[in-house]
Amino acid sequence: MKEIDLACAHFRQVLQEQIARVQTMAAEKTDFSHKDTVTIGLIPGDGIGPIIMQQAERVLKKLLAEEIADRKIKLKNIQGLTIENRLAVNQPVPEDVLKEIKTCDVLLKGPTTTPMGGKMESANVTLRRELDLYANVRPVCIPEEGIDWVFYRENTEGEYVLGSKGYELPGLAVDFKVTTDMGTRRIAHAAFTYAKNNGKNRVSIVTKANIMKKTDGKFTAVCHEVAEEFPGIMADDWYIDIMTANLVNPAIRNQFQVFVLPNLYGDIITDEAAQIQGGVGTAGSANIGDRYAMFEAIHGSAPRMVEEGLAEYANPTSILKAEAMLLRHICRADAAQKLEDALRLCKCTVTGTTDGATCKEFADELLSLLLDIQERS
Ligand code: IPM
Ligand code: MG
Repeated sequence: MKEIDLACAHFRQVLQEQIARVQTMAAEKTDFSHKDTVTIGLIPGDGIGPIIMQQAERVLKKLLAEEIADRKIKLKNIQGLTIENRLAVNQPVPEDVLKEIKTCDVLLKGPTTTPMGGKMESANVTLRRELDLYANVRPVCIPEEGIDWVFYRENTEGEYVLGSKGYELPGLAVDFKVTTDMGTRRIAHAAFTYAKNNGKNRVSIVTKANIMKKTDGKFTAVCHEVAEEFPGIMADDWYIDIMTANLVNPAIRNQFQVFVLPNLYGDIITDEAAQIQGGVGTAGSANIGDRYAMFEAIHGSAPRMVEEGLAEYANPTSILKAEAMLLRHICRADAAQKLEDALRLCKCTVTGTTDGATCKEFADELLSLLLDIQERS
Protein backbone atom coordinates (compact mmCIF):
# COMPACT_ATOMS: atom_id res chain seq x y z
CA MET A 1 0.00 0.00 0.00
CA LYS A 2 1.41 3.35 -1.04
CA GLU A 3 0.33 5.03 2.20
CA ILE A 4 2.27 2.52 4.28
CA ASP A 5 5.35 2.95 2.11
CA LEU A 6 5.19 6.71 2.66
CA ALA A 7 4.82 6.16 6.42
CA CYS A 8 7.84 3.83 6.40
CA ALA A 9 9.89 6.46 4.55
CA HIS A 10 8.90 8.98 7.23
CA PHE A 11 9.89 6.54 9.97
CA ARG A 12 13.22 5.88 8.30
CA GLN A 13 13.96 9.61 8.26
CA VAL A 14 12.92 9.98 11.88
CA LEU A 15 15.28 7.18 12.90
CA GLN A 16 18.17 8.68 10.94
CA GLU A 17 17.62 12.06 12.60
CA GLN A 18 17.52 10.49 16.04
CA ILE A 19 20.71 8.52 15.48
CA ALA A 20 22.37 11.76 14.30
CA ARG A 21 21.12 13.57 17.43
CA VAL A 22 22.85 11.07 19.70
CA GLN A 23 26.17 11.82 17.96
CA THR A 24 25.93 15.49 18.98
CA MET A 25 25.23 14.86 22.67
CA ALA A 26 28.65 15.01 24.28
CA ALA A 27 29.46 18.66 24.95
CA GLU A 28 31.93 20.56 27.05
CA LYS A 29 30.57 21.88 30.36
CA THR A 30 30.56 25.62 31.04
CA ASP A 31 32.48 26.28 34.26
CA PHE A 32 30.84 29.32 35.84
CA SER A 33 33.18 29.37 38.82
CA HIS A 34 36.01 30.45 36.51
CA LYS A 35 34.20 32.49 33.91
CA ASP A 36 35.19 36.19 33.67
CA THR A 37 31.88 37.42 32.28
CA VAL A 38 28.50 35.79 32.39
CA THR A 39 25.80 36.93 29.97
CA ILE A 40 22.24 36.50 31.19
CA GLY A 41 19.58 36.71 28.47
CA LEU A 42 16.17 37.98 29.54
CA ILE A 43 13.22 36.79 27.47
CA PRO A 44 9.84 38.35 28.34
CA GLY A 45 7.61 35.78 26.60
CA ASP A 46 3.83 36.10 26.11
CA GLY A 47 0.72 36.74 28.16
CA ILE A 48 1.65 37.43 31.78
CA GLY A 49 5.31 36.78 30.85
CA PRO A 50 6.39 40.42 30.36
CA ILE A 51 4.65 41.41 33.64
CA ILE A 52 6.43 38.85 35.82
CA MET A 53 9.71 39.24 33.93
CA GLN A 54 9.73 43.01 34.49
CA GLN A 55 9.74 42.41 38.25
CA ALA A 56 12.24 39.54 37.98
CA GLU A 57 14.59 41.91 36.11
CA ARG A 58 14.26 44.59 38.82
CA VAL A 59 15.17 42.03 41.47
CA LEU A 60 18.08 40.64 39.43
CA LYS A 61 19.50 44.14 38.86
CA LYS A 62 19.33 44.80 42.59
CA LEU A 63 21.02 41.52 43.54
CA LEU A 64 23.80 41.80 40.97
CA ALA A 65 24.22 45.60 40.95
CA GLU A 66 27.95 45.57 41.67
CA GLU A 67 28.85 42.86 39.21
CA ILE A 68 26.73 44.50 36.51
CA ALA A 69 28.57 47.78 37.14
CA ASP A 70 31.90 45.92 36.95
CA ARG A 71 30.77 44.24 33.71
CA LYS A 72 31.29 40.79 35.21
CA ILE A 73 27.63 40.16 34.54
CA LYS A 74 25.91 41.35 31.39
CA LEU A 75 22.14 41.43 31.05
CA LYS A 76 20.84 41.15 27.51
CA ASN A 77 17.21 41.74 26.60
CA ILE A 78 16.11 39.32 23.92
CA GLN A 79 13.21 40.56 21.80
CA GLY A 80 11.04 38.71 19.33
CA LEU A 81 10.10 35.50 21.15
CA THR A 82 6.42 36.40 21.10
CA ILE A 83 3.56 34.34 19.77
CA GLU A 84 2.75 37.08 17.20
CA ASN A 85 6.28 37.12 15.81
CA ARG A 86 6.63 33.33 15.89
CA LEU A 87 3.39 32.90 13.94
CA ALA A 88 4.36 35.70 11.51
CA VAL A 89 7.65 34.02 10.56
CA ASN A 90 6.22 30.53 11.06
CA GLN A 91 9.08 29.39 13.29
CA PRO A 92 8.74 28.27 16.93
CA VAL A 93 11.92 30.22 17.73
CA PRO A 94 12.72 32.71 14.93
CA GLU A 95 16.21 32.18 13.57
CA ASP A 96 17.53 35.64 14.48
CA VAL A 97 16.18 35.25 18.02
CA LEU A 98 17.88 31.86 18.40
CA LYS A 99 21.14 33.42 17.25
CA GLU A 100 20.86 36.11 19.93
CA ILE A 101 19.99 33.50 22.54
CA LYS A 102 23.10 31.52 21.68
CA THR A 103 25.28 34.53 22.50
CA CYS A 104 24.15 34.22 26.14
CA ASP A 105 25.32 31.74 28.77
CA VAL A 106 22.10 31.43 30.72
CA LEU A 107 18.55 32.60 30.17
CA LEU A 108 15.67 33.72 32.31
CA LYS A 109 12.55 33.19 30.30
CA GLY A 110 8.92 34.20 30.76
CA PRO A 111 6.26 31.70 29.64
CA THR A 112 5.66 31.43 25.89
CA THR A 113 2.29 30.45 24.46
CA THR A 114 2.11 27.07 22.71
CA PRO A 115 -0.53 26.97 19.98
CA MET A 116 -2.76 23.89 20.37
CA GLY A 117 -2.87 21.56 17.35
CA GLY A 118 -1.37 22.71 14.05
CA LYS A 119 2.25 22.12 13.23
CA MET A 120 3.98 24.83 15.26
CA GLU A 121 6.24 23.33 17.91
CA SER A 122 6.33 24.82 21.40
CA ALA A 123 9.13 27.39 21.80
CA ASN A 124 10.10 25.61 25.03
CA VAL A 125 10.56 22.32 23.28
CA THR A 126 12.58 23.96 20.47
CA LEU A 127 14.85 25.78 22.92
CA ARG A 128 15.37 22.69 25.05
CA ARG A 129 16.39 20.79 21.94
CA GLU A 130 18.46 23.53 20.22
CA LEU A 131 20.39 24.30 23.41
CA ASP A 132 20.43 20.63 24.44
CA LEU A 133 18.96 21.39 27.87
CA TYR A 134 18.53 17.81 28.95
CA ALA A 135 17.79 18.15 32.64
CA ASN A 136 14.58 19.79 33.76
CA VAL A 137 15.10 20.31 37.49
CA ARG A 138 12.06 21.20 39.59
CA PRO A 139 12.31 21.44 43.38
CA VAL A 140 9.22 21.32 45.58
CA CYS A 141 9.58 22.04 49.26
CA ILE A 142 7.06 22.07 52.12
CA PRO A 143 9.19 22.34 55.26
CA GLU A 144 6.28 22.00 57.73
CA GLU A 145 5.49 18.59 56.23
CA GLY A 146 9.09 17.49 55.86
CA ILE A 147 8.73 17.48 52.07
CA ASP A 148 11.89 18.25 50.12
CA TRP A 149 11.53 16.84 46.63
CA VAL A 150 13.62 17.47 43.54
CA PHE A 151 12.40 16.18 40.20
CA TYR A 152 14.91 15.41 37.45
CA ARG A 153 12.78 15.27 34.34
CA GLU A 154 14.46 14.17 31.11
CA ASN A 155 13.92 17.17 28.88
CA THR A 156 15.00 16.40 25.32
CA GLU A 157 13.64 12.96 24.47
CA GLY A 158 10.67 10.75 25.27
CA GLU A 159 7.30 11.81 23.94
CA TYR A 160 8.48 15.34 23.19
CA VAL A 161 11.36 14.96 20.79
CA LEU A 162 9.11 13.91 17.91
CA GLY A 163 5.92 15.43 19.29
CA SER A 164 5.46 17.47 16.12
CA LYS A 165 6.61 14.67 13.81
CA GLY A 166 3.90 12.09 14.31
CA TYR A 167 2.19 10.53 11.32
CA GLU A 168 -1.39 10.29 10.11
CA LEU A 169 -3.00 7.81 7.79
CA PRO A 170 -6.72 7.93 7.05
CA GLY A 171 -8.47 7.18 10.35
CA LEU A 172 -5.22 6.55 12.23
CA ALA A 173 -2.62 8.67 13.99
CA VAL A 174 0.78 7.63 15.33
CA ASP A 175 3.20 9.52 17.57
CA PHE A 176 6.71 8.43 18.46
CA LYS A 177 8.49 8.15 21.79
CA VAL A 178 12.27 7.94 21.82
CA THR A 179 14.62 6.88 24.62
CA THR A 180 18.37 6.59 24.14
CA ASP A 181 21.08 5.13 26.34
CA MET A 182 23.09 8.35 26.28
CA GLY A 183 20.09 10.57 26.88
CA THR A 184 19.02 8.49 29.87
CA ARG A 185 22.50 8.13 31.27
CA ARG A 186 23.09 11.87 31.43
CA ILE A 187 19.79 12.67 33.19
CA ALA A 188 20.29 9.78 35.62
CA HIS A 189 23.82 10.99 36.27
CA ALA A 190 22.54 14.49 37.00
CA ALA A 191 19.93 13.15 39.45
CA PHE A 192 22.31 10.83 41.32
CA THR A 193 25.03 13.49 41.43
CA TYR A 194 22.55 15.95 42.93
CA ALA A 195 21.57 13.32 45.52
CA LYS A 196 25.20 12.64 46.38
CA ASN A 197 26.16 16.31 46.67
CA ASN A 198 23.14 17.19 48.78
CA GLY A 199 23.12 14.46 51.38
CA LYS A 200 20.23 12.49 49.87
CA ASN A 201 20.23 8.72 49.99
CA ARG A 202 17.36 7.80 47.71
CA VAL A 203 16.53 8.33 44.05
CA SER A 204 13.18 7.10 42.76
CA ILE A 205 12.96 6.11 39.10
CA VAL A 206 9.43 6.67 37.78
CA THR A 207 8.16 5.19 34.49
CA LYS A 208 5.40 3.03 33.06
CA ALA A 209 7.77 0.26 32.03
CA ASN A 210 5.07 -2.40 32.38
CA ILE A 211 3.35 -0.85 29.34
CA MET A 212 6.00 1.18 27.49
CA LYS A 213 8.29 -1.80 27.51
CA LYS A 214 11.00 -0.66 25.12
CA THR A 215 11.42 3.02 25.95
CA ASP A 216 10.58 3.05 29.66
CA GLY A 217 12.18 -0.37 30.04
CA LYS A 218 15.43 1.12 28.76
CA PHE A 219 15.02 4.20 30.96
CA THR A 220 14.68 2.07 34.10
CA ALA A 221 17.53 -0.27 33.18
CA VAL A 222 19.97 2.55 32.36
CA CYS A 223 19.05 4.43 35.57
CA HIS A 224 19.85 1.28 37.58
CA GLU A 225 23.18 0.98 35.77
CA VAL A 226 24.05 4.55 36.69
CA ALA A 227 22.91 3.88 40.29
CA GLU A 228 25.73 1.36 40.61
CA GLU A 229 28.21 4.24 40.37
CA PHE A 230 26.60 5.73 43.51
CA PRO A 231 26.84 3.02 46.18
CA GLY A 232 25.47 5.08 49.10
CA ILE A 233 22.26 5.92 47.30
CA MET A 234 19.25 3.62 47.10
CA ALA A 235 17.54 3.45 43.71
CA ASP A 236 13.93 2.27 43.69
CA ASP A 237 11.57 2.16 40.74
CA TRP A 238 7.89 2.96 40.57
CA TYR A 239 5.13 3.27 38.01
CA ILE A 240 3.89 6.76 37.32
CA ASP A 241 0.26 6.01 38.19
CA ILE A 242 0.97 4.87 41.73
CA MET A 243 3.54 7.63 42.18
CA THR A 244 0.92 10.29 41.40
CA ALA A 245 -1.14 8.67 44.18
CA ASN A 246 1.87 8.52 46.54
CA LEU A 247 2.38 12.26 46.23
CA VAL A 248 -1.06 12.88 47.72
CA ASN A 249 -0.59 10.25 50.43
CA PRO A 250 0.55 12.15 53.55
CA ALA A 251 1.59 8.88 55.24
CA ILE A 252 4.50 8.26 52.88
CA ARG A 253 5.10 11.23 50.64
CA ASN A 254 7.79 12.87 52.72
CA GLN A 255 9.99 9.78 52.38
CA PHE A 256 10.69 10.52 48.72
CA GLN A 257 13.67 12.73 47.93
CA VAL A 258 14.88 12.80 44.35
CA PHE A 259 12.92 11.60 41.33
CA VAL A 260 14.19 10.82 37.86
CA LEU A 261 11.66 10.37 35.07
CA PRO A 262 11.05 10.51 31.33
CA ASN A 263 9.81 13.73 29.80
CA LEU A 264 5.99 13.49 29.77
CA TYR A 265 5.59 11.88 33.20
CA GLY A 266 7.94 14.54 34.54
CA ASP A 267 5.83 17.25 32.96
CA ILE A 268 2.64 15.98 34.55
CA ILE A 269 3.87 15.04 38.00
CA THR A 270 5.72 18.33 38.51
CA ASP A 271 2.47 20.25 38.07
CA GLU A 272 0.90 17.95 40.65
CA ALA A 273 3.82 18.45 43.03
CA ALA A 274 3.76 22.22 42.54
CA GLN A 275 0.05 22.23 43.30
CA ILE A 276 0.70 20.34 46.56
CA GLN A 277 3.21 23.05 47.45
CA GLY A 278 0.61 25.77 46.94
CA GLY A 279 0.01 26.10 43.20
CA VAL A 280 1.84 26.00 39.90
CA GLY A 281 2.70 29.67 40.46
CA THR A 282 4.94 28.68 43.35
CA ALA A 283 7.56 26.41 41.77
CA GLY A 284 10.67 27.30 39.79
CA SER A 285 12.08 25.33 36.91
CA ALA A 286 15.60 24.94 35.53
CA ASN A 287 16.48 23.52 32.11
CA ILE A 288 20.12 22.56 32.30
CA GLY A 289 22.53 21.46 29.64
CA ASP A 290 26.31 21.26 29.53
CA ARG A 291 26.83 24.52 27.62
CA TYR A 292 23.63 26.53 28.28
CA ALA A 293 20.91 26.68 30.92
CA MET A 294 17.48 28.26 30.89
CA PHE A 295 15.39 29.12 33.93
CA GLU A 296 11.67 29.68 33.83
CA ALA A 297 8.40 29.62 35.70
CA ILE A 298 6.73 26.22 35.82
CA HIS A 299 3.40 27.68 34.67
CA GLY A 300 2.19 28.89 31.27
CA SER A 301 1.44 32.34 29.85
CA ALA A 302 -2.10 32.44 31.34
CA PRO A 303 -3.89 34.03 28.36
CA ARG A 304 -7.15 33.85 30.33
CA MET A 305 -5.77 36.20 32.98
CA VAL A 306 -4.78 38.65 30.25
CA GLU A 307 -8.23 38.45 28.60
CA GLU A 308 -9.90 39.09 31.94
CA GLY A 309 -7.70 42.13 32.57
CA LEU A 310 -5.94 40.43 35.50
CA ALA A 311 -2.40 40.25 34.09
CA GLU A 312 -0.95 42.68 36.63
CA TYR A 313 -2.16 40.36 39.41
CA ALA A 314 0.03 37.51 38.15
CA ASN A 315 2.16 35.79 40.78
CA PRO A 316 5.92 36.29 40.17
CA THR A 317 6.96 33.66 42.77
CA SER A 318 7.66 30.92 40.26
CA ILE A 319 9.90 33.05 38.02
CA LEU A 320 11.68 34.43 41.12
CA LYS A 321 12.37 30.90 42.36
CA ALA A 322 13.73 30.15 38.89
CA GLU A 323 15.87 33.28 39.21
CA ALA A 324 17.33 31.96 42.47
CA MET A 325 18.14 28.68 40.69
CA LEU A 326 19.85 30.66 37.92
CA LEU A 327 21.97 32.50 40.48
CA ARG A 328 23.05 29.21 42.09
CA HIS A 329 23.83 27.75 38.67
CA ILE A 330 26.22 30.61 37.83
CA CYS A 331 27.88 30.20 41.26
CA ARG A 332 26.27 33.28 42.87
CA ALA A 333 25.06 31.27 45.88
CA ASP A 334 25.13 34.30 48.14
CA ALA A 335 22.73 36.30 45.96
CA ALA A 336 20.55 33.19 45.53
CA GLN A 337 20.34 32.71 49.29
CA LYS A 338 19.31 36.33 49.80
CA LEU A 339 16.56 35.99 47.24
CA GLU A 340 15.33 32.70 48.74
CA ASP A 341 15.33 34.24 52.24
CA ALA A 342 13.41 37.28 51.02
CA LEU A 343 10.88 35.07 49.24
CA ARG A 344 10.32 33.13 52.47
CA LEU A 345 9.83 36.32 54.45
CA CYS A 346 7.59 38.07 51.95
CA LYS A 347 4.09 38.32 53.41
CA CYS A 348 2.50 39.93 50.37
CA THR A 349 -0.23 37.64 49.03
CA VAL A 350 -0.82 37.41 45.31
CA THR A 351 -3.96 35.46 44.44
CA GLY A 352 -4.17 36.07 40.71
CA THR A 353 -7.34 38.12 41.26
CA THR A 354 -8.13 41.68 42.38
CA ASP A 355 -8.45 40.32 45.96
CA GLY A 356 -4.68 39.92 46.11
CA ALA A 357 -1.66 42.15 45.63
CA THR A 358 -0.30 42.97 42.20
CA CYS A 359 2.89 41.48 40.82
CA LYS A 360 4.64 44.84 41.28
CA GLU A 361 3.44 45.20 44.89
CA PHE A 362 4.92 41.77 45.63
CA ALA A 363 8.25 42.79 44.09
CA ASP A 364 8.21 46.10 45.99
CA GLU A 365 7.95 44.26 49.31
CA LEU A 366 10.56 41.73 48.21
CA LEU A 367 13.00 44.50 47.26
CA SER A 368 12.59 46.20 50.61
CA LEU A 369 13.21 42.86 52.35
CA LEU A 370 16.33 42.42 50.22
CA LEU A 371 17.53 45.82 51.31
CA ASP A 372 17.15 44.78 54.98
CA ILE A 373 18.93 41.47 54.34
CA GLN A 374 21.77 43.22 52.47
CA GLU A 375 22.19 45.82 55.24
CA ARG A 376 22.40 43.08 57.86
CA SER A 377 25.02 41.08 55.98
C1 IPM B 1 6.46 22.72 31.14
C2 IPM B 1 5.37 23.09 30.18
C3 IPM B 1 5.85 22.78 28.76
C4 IPM B 1 6.05 21.30 28.67
C5 IPM B 1 4.95 23.29 27.64
C6 IPM B 1 4.71 24.78 27.75
C7 IPM B 1 5.50 22.92 26.30
O1 IPM B 1 4.19 22.43 30.47
O2 IPM B 1 7.54 23.30 31.06
O3 IPM B 1 6.22 21.87 31.99
O4 IPM B 1 5.13 20.56 28.37
O5 IPM B 1 7.18 20.88 28.90
MG1 MG C 1 4.26 21.32 32.27
